[in-house]
This record gives sequence, C-alpha cells and structure tokens, in this order.
Amino acid sequence: MSGTRSRKRVAVVPGDGIGREVIPAVRQVLEAVADQREGIDFEFVAGEAGDGVKERTGTALPEETRELVIGADAALFGAAGETAAEVIIPLRRAIDAFANVRPATAYPGVGALQPETDLVFVRENTEGIYAGHETELAPGVTTLTRVITAEASERIARYGFEYAAEHDYRVTVAHKANVMQTTDGQFLESVARVAEELGAEYETALMDALAMELVRDPTDYGVVICPNLAGDVLSDLAAGLVGGLGLLASANVGPERALFEPVHGTAPDIAGQGVANPAAAILCGAHLLEYFEFEAAGADVREAVTETLSAGLQTPDLGGEASTDEVTAAIVERL
Ligand code: NAI
Ligand code: MG
Repeated sequence: MSGTRSRKRVAVVPGDGIGREVIPAVRQVLEAVADQREGIDFEFVAGEAGDGVKERTGTALPEETRELVIGADAALFGAAGETAAEVIIPLRRAIDAFANVRPATAYPGVGALQPETDLVFVRENTEGIYAGHETELAPGVTTLTRVITAEASERIARYGFEYAAEHDYRVTVAHKANVMQTTDGQFLESVARVAEELGAEYETALMDALAMELVRDPTDYGVVICPNLAGDVLSDLAAGLVGGLGLLASANVGPERALFEPVHGTAPDIAGQGVANPAAAILCGAHLLEYFEFEAAGADVREAVTETLSAGLQTPDLGGEASTDEVTAAIVERL
C-alpha cells in the first residue's frame, strides 16, 4: 500500500507524440520535489507503449511494460496514438483501476468558461453500460445489458466519500434511478449503506439535471460520484467549463496502485515542436504526490502551476508564447 515505504517506485510510460514531451516535464518536477524534501524519494522505471513500439515490435503494450506498471507503486502514462485503447484499457485492468478520478479546476487567467469551477468526478470505472454486454438479437434489433453490482458501487462510494473528506469537498451522487430503477436503485442503496457506515453526508442529483446545473453554476458542487457512463459524460462537460485539454489530469485508482494520465491525447498537430502544455501532466504529478500522502508537496506543485499560469507564462494553446521547457522551468523554480 502507499504511504508505508519511503522510496516510491514510479513506472514512467510516455507513449507517443506529446506524451514524450510532457512526461519528462512531470518527471523533472517530481525530481525537484524529491531533491527538496526529506522523506520523498522516487525510483523511476521507464517503459514503452503505443504506436511507436507497435511499429517496431508488433505490440502496443509489451508484456515488460505491463509488468513494470504492476510492479510499481504508481505509474505516469502520457498518451498513445491510434493504439490508445490497446494500451490504456489493459493497463487499467492490470491494476484493477476501479475509480477514475477527474478533477476539473479552473485556473485564474486561462479564460475558463466558469472561472470558479472546482469539481472532482469520481467515476466507477469497471461496469455500468461499459461492461461489454452488447447483443444483436436480429438485424436491426440490438440490446445492451447494464451491470451495476453492490460490490463495485460500494467500492466507488467509499473511495469518493473518503476522497471528499480528505480534500474537504461536499458530495453529490449522480444517477438516473427514476428511469433505471433497478440498476441505479442498487447504486443509490449501496451509496447510502457506505455513507451510513462512514457517517458521510451527501445529496443526490439526476444526472441530466445535474449537467444543466453544472453549466449554470458549478460552485454548488464538489466531489461528484457517478456510475460509469454518467461520469464519462459529466467529467467531459466539466472539462469544457475549465478550459483546454492542456490543463486536465486524471487518475485511475486501484486497490493497491494508481495510474495517472493527462486527459489529452498525443496532439499530432503540435507534437515535436516543444510547445505542448505540460500543466496537465504536471498536475498528474501533484495528484501522484497526494496519492502517496505527500499532501504538502502536492499542494505546492498545484500552487506553482497556478502561479505560473496566472503570471501569464503560458503555452500557445492558452494564448501564450512560452515553450514546454520554459513553463516547466518556471514551475520548478516556484517550488
Ligand atoms: P488530442 O488531445 O491529442 O488533441 C486535441 C487538440 O488539443 C489538438 O489540437 C491538440 O494540439 C490540443 N492539445 C491536447 N493536449 C495539449 C497540450 N498538452 N498542449 C497543447 N495542446 C494540446 O486529441 P485528438 O486529436 O483527438 O487525438 C490525437 C491522438 O491521440 C489520436 O491518435 C488518439 O487516438 C490519441 N488519444 C490518446 C489518448 C490516450 O492515450 N489516453 C486520449 C485521447 C486521444
Ligand atoms: Mg471520455
């Protein structure tokens, strides 16, 4: 488990395109943090994945990379191109990543649609309509089976409530139990059971109405616990409220390890130019620090990112002229 050994082994898998530019940036930040702070020590182990390695070897996720991730305390993944699904889905499975955590925080001075947004989506990542039970009954007649189990629902609820308590957020549980009475009814019952056990408070919201409310005024919300599809859609909606892809980080959390990845892809239109926004990847690093219970260091990294962006040192995607290296250096300097 995290927090017990002082030296943390981190698998680093840059992947393709700008993954190869932003993952070195977050590694640089984590190395600076480890240099400055007693008790924080990382061992980085690098692995390959994605289009590049598939071209050379025929497989997008070499077994040794999978084992590297399983053998590490946490992993940082950049992005893969055409082979993204061949890489990320098996990696999430390999660590039993049941929780997809997607913060949507607006930073000052980056033109967010809703500048006060501070949301964290905690999405069930293993079942719901993404469980893969789709059938064609007859030509033109198809069905999909939605799987909601008490076990997975309780697991995501527990994670969400504990995350909210640690970070001092209120909790909203998104559902559509008025229509999906059995499955989302099950989901809500599981949430209620866990809340009672933990003494946690929460409100529920119909996911469609919540989408509208989040656009109108996201400040009424904090952690949003969601079944799989609702979390997928609502977290992208919130991403739109806070601005560009270059700012969005995510975590895939399993029982014993976690994989952190920026939400963006390989950005082929700008790859190789040295202008990728490193903020999303660096915020993954902040989340990784917090995951290891280096809370103060994680907060420092977030603050350094915020200050750098607010000071106007921004890459072209945010309207600035700075390079990846310049933004990274400024963040490191502020630590
Ligand atoms: P994308 O996120 O790579 O790019 C979308 C737009 O946002 C582009 O204009 C890009 O330049 C910009 N952008 C993204 N991240 C940025 C950053 N850090 N700094 C500055 N600008 C940034 O999504 P797209 O174009 O749909 O996909 C490109 C490739 O990436 C595809 O091959 C796709 O399969 C893959 N992909 C991989 C993902 C993963 O590995 N998790 C996720 C999404 C896409
Ligand atoms: Mg999505």
